[in-house]
This record gives sequence, structure tokens and C-alpha cells, in this order.
Amino acid sequence: MEKTLDKTVSSKVFIFTLSLILISSITLSFLKSPRSPLPLPSIPRSLDKYCDVFKGKWVPYPQGPYYSNETCRLIVDQQNCMKFGRPDTEFMKWRWKPDDCELPLFDAAHFLEIVTGKSMAFVGDSVARNQMESLLCLLAHEANPEDVSHYSKRWFYANYNFTLSAIWSPFLVKSRVADNNGNSSNGLFSLYLDEADETWAKEIEKFDYVIISAGQWFFRSQLFYENDRIIGCYNCNQNNITSISKYQACRTVFGTALQTLLSHKNYTGTTFLRTFSAAHYEDGDWDSGGNCVRTRPFAHNETKLQEFNMEFYSIQAEELRKAKEKGKKIGLRFELMNTTEIMWLRPDGHPSRYGKFMKKNATVNDCVHWCLPGPIDTLNEFLLYLMSKEVL
Ligand SMILES: *[C@@H]1O[C@H](CO)[C@@H](O)[C@H](O)[C@H]1NC(C)=O
Ligand SMILES: *[C@@H]1O[C@H](CO)[C@@H](O)[C@H](O)[C@H]1NC(C)=O
Ligand SMILES: *[C@@H]1O[C@H](CO)[C@@H](O)[C@H](O)[C@H]1NC(C)=O
Ligand SMILES: *[C@@H]1O[C@H](CO)[C@@H](O)[C@H](O)[C@H]1NC(C)=O
Ligand SMILES: *[C@@H]1O[C@H](CO)[C@@H](O)[C@H](O)[C@H]1NC(C)=O
Ligand SMILES: *[C@@H]1O[C@H](CO)[C@@H](O)[C@H](O)[C@H]1NC(C)=O
Ligand SMILES: *[C@@H]1O[C@H](CO)[C@@H](O)[C@H](O)[C@H]1NC(C)=O
Ligand SMILES: *[C@@H]1O[C@H](CO)[C@@H](O)[C@H](O)[C@H]1NC(C)=O
Repeated sequence: MEKTLDKTVSSKVFIFTLSLILISSITLSFLKSPRSPLPLPSIPRSLDKYCDVFKGKWVPYPQGPYYSNETCRLIVDQQNCMKFGRPDTEFMKWRWKPDDCELPLFDAAHFLEIVTGKSMAFVGDSVARNQMESLLCLLAHEANPEDVSHYSKRWFYANYNFTLSAIWSPFLVKSRVADNNGNSSNGLFSLYLDEADETWAKEIEKFDYVIISAGQWFFRSQLFYENDRIIGCYNCNQNNITSISKYQACRTVFGTALQTLLSHKNYTGTTFLRTFSAAHYEDGDWDSGGNCVRTRPFAHNETKLQEFNMEFYSIQAEELRKAKEKGKKIGLRFELMNTTEIMWLRPDGHPSRYGKFMKKNATVNDCVHWCLPGPIDTLNEFLLYLMSKEVL
């Protein structure tokens, strides 16, 4: 799906404080929201236990975003939509409102308190990195990191001894370009479905928090291996090779990645699986003039997630559920960030043609990545919410 897009990118103590924060944000939101029922259900612990924060709706939030391209200097051009002339600003003025509680605002000081002396990695494709970059901006008014990248993007917050990384691994398993015909965007990829990508697997034990996500790259043509032997392919035009669906591949890949974490002797981190972030091309695909020009979220009754996106979501959620059960027995925590449908409601959040690398080819619009600031910031509100629950 985002062949051209990704190729371009690839080149290259809390309980007390926490309760106070929770209580204050809840009180605030209670005051702000006249439609809230009795205050009783807002007691933090019961809220954490019973509220499904992923069930809710987008509501207007006139206060606007946490940062701008001036207060956060770390926005890369691809996602700096305002710099490249995006005319509308309403897309930055919405918040996610769970039906039965509040999703707390992102509190950078609170986040840094939790991660002091720890490390975090976003493992996946360019949307995973996009989410890490949102986090950099959300933290920007509290702390300035030092760029300590080597082969993967890495930031170090010296005052907090906190390391934040984006590890490039779009397929999560070992992969390589299979037949490079010079048109690498159309190239066939070889995927070793039963081997986790060493890029992340060899150093994952260093991380306390791991956010894994993937999806867009499974739309490409792929040749699949297990036990080092070809077992099938997807969209490879070779009639002597068994056809395997991208869904089956996706299921096996997530199974392998999660099992690698489960069976790793030295890994003690908390794993979050952020479910598939669907693209919003309309009136064509990415390579046939498709675009995303909406300036408002969808209402629930206005849209339905397409079947193929739903399938990716279901597979990932199912594999995470299995890993979570196994993890419980050995003391490893796995959490689902159930955000596919939530982000699906935000067709207005993409760069479209207001991202720099798109200028290279005016016919390709970016409806995959997310503008900063924008709805992707909400993913990090969910992340902090889930991390806070762990501390409680
Ligand atoms: C931020 O966006 C404005 C347009 O809203 C643009 O004029 C400015 O150059 C951008 N600044 C940076 C540092 O990207
Ligand atoms: C920084 O954190 C790492 C773990 O991420 C730990 O091994 C190290 O001792 C810490 N350093 C200091 C100075 O606290
Ligand atoms: C790459 O694709 C273009 C058009 O799709 C074609 O003209 C060109 O010959 C191809 N190059 C190679 C090396 O196959
Ligand atoms: C499929 O056929 C092609 C050529 O016809 C051959 O190069 C390739 O090795 C075959 N693959 C398998 C798995 O038999
Ligand atoms: C786990 O850590 C020990 C001690 O540092 C090391 O010898 C071993 O190779 C590690 N195991 C794995 C699977 O990385
Ligand atoms: C721009 O992208 C379109 C669609 O992929 C392609 O047909 C066209 O050849 C590209 N143009 C250039 C100049 O690369
Ligand atoms: C969607 O629901 C809203 C009220 O929640 C209603 O005003 C609107 O007409 C509905 N739209 C459609 C397309 O059914
Ligand atoms: C994820 O959220 C969707 C609605 O956005 C809901 O239908 C689904 O049941 C949720 N999945 C889980 C595992 O909670």
C-alpha cells in the first residue's frame, strides 16, 4: 500500500502523585462535562478496573493541540503539515472521549516520572516511528533529548536517564528484498515467518516498554519461508508456489514476534501492541490518484472499517490475547492498544499533499502517516494511561 512512502522513509512515587493527577483530571473533566453522571464511578481505581477507554467517540476540543511546529522543533518535514501549507486547523481540535470515563490528558511530567531510569522502544514501520515522534513532541516542553542514533533512531533524556528508540522492522520477522528488479517499490520481499527480525530481537532485553505495530507492508508482494524453505507466496505471480494470504502471513508474523518476547530469557518489559493503523485513500489507491481531503472526523454512523482492515485488526488483537494469557503465567505483561477503529474515524489526520517528500511526486498523497500535531497524539495518551495503570 505505502510502497513509495515507506521506501522513501526507510532510507536512512508515584501512587500518591498519580492519584492526585488522576483525581484532578477527573475532577476537571467532571466539572467540564455537565453530562457526566454521579461522581461515584469516577474513583480512579474503579475507573481503571472497569472502564474501557477504547470505547467512545471523538469530541470537539477547542483548546487545540499540546504543541505546535514552533514549540516542538523535532517534527520531521514529512509530518509537518502546517509548514507545508495545510490550510485547515480543525483536525487538531478533537479529543477522544471514552463513554464511561475520561482519558486523562497527556502529562509529560508524569510520563517522565514513570520512565526515569528506563527505556522504551517502538518496533515496527514508519507509522511506529511517527508515534514515537509524537511522543517526542508531547515531552518537548518538559525535557530535551539528545540524538544518540546509530542504526536505529534513538533519543536520550539525560535528566531522566530515559532512552527512547524507534527500531525499524516493518515486517517484524527476518526479511530481505527477494528479486530486486530495480523497481524496489514493486520488489518482492522474502519473509522468514518463523524467525523474529534480529534488528529488534537481539537487543529487546534492554527495553522496559516495547510498543509493537505493523501492517502496511503486508500489502506488498511476498515470498514466505519457514525452516528456511519456501512455503508459499502472496501476489508473486509464480504458479508453482502455493498462494498464502497476507492475513495468514500477518497472523504468523505476530505469533512469532510475540512468542519471541514470551520465550526470551532476559526480557522483562511490558509489551503494548498498537493495532493496525489503516490508510484512508479515497477515489483511488495510493498509486492511482487516491487522496484524503476530509477535514473532520467520521461519525460512527457515517463509516465502517473495510473488511481487509478489520481482518488485520482482528488477527493482531487475537494474537495479543493469546500472548497476554501466556504472559500472565510467567509474569510478563502484554497490553492491547485497541486503536484501529478509533484512528479509522480520523480520515482528516493525514498529511495528504502537505508533507515534504510528497513534493517529489505530486501525484502521490500521504494518507498513511499522521500530521504532527494531530490525532496520533491520542495514541500516546492511551500509552500513558496504560502505563499508569501498571503503576497503580
Ligand atoms: C510552522 O507552520 C507555519 C505555518 O502554520 C509555517 O509558516 C512555519 O514555517 C512552520 N515552522 C516550522 C519551524 O516548521
Ligand atoms: C540509567 O538507567 C539504566 C537502565 O536503563 C541503568 O542501568 C543505569 O544504572 C542508570 N544510570 C544511572 C546513572 O542512574
Ligand atoms: C521499472 O518500472 C518502469 C515503469 O513501471 C519501467 O519503465 C522500467 O523499465 C522498470 N525498470 C526495471 C529495471 O525493471
Ligand atoms: C518455480 O518456477 C521457477 C521457474 O519456473 C523456478 O525458478 C523456481 O525455482 C520454482 N520454485 C519452486 C519453489 O519450485
Ligand atoms: C541473558 O543474559 C545472560 C547474562 O547476561 C546472557 O549470558 C545470555 O546470553 C542472555 N540470553 C539471551 C537469550 O539473550
Ligand atoms: C509519480 O507516481 C505515479 C504513480 O505511482 C507514477 O505513475 C509516475 O510515474 C510518478 N512520477 C514520477 C516523476 O516519478
Ligand atoms: C448520525 O447520527 C447523528 C446523531 O448522532 C445524526 O444527526 C445523523 O443524521 C446520522 N447520520 C447518518 C448518516 O445516519
Ligand atoms: C476494540 O474496539 C472495538 C471498537 O472500536 C470493539 O468493537 C472491540 O470489541 C474492541 N476489542 C477488544 C479486544 O476490546
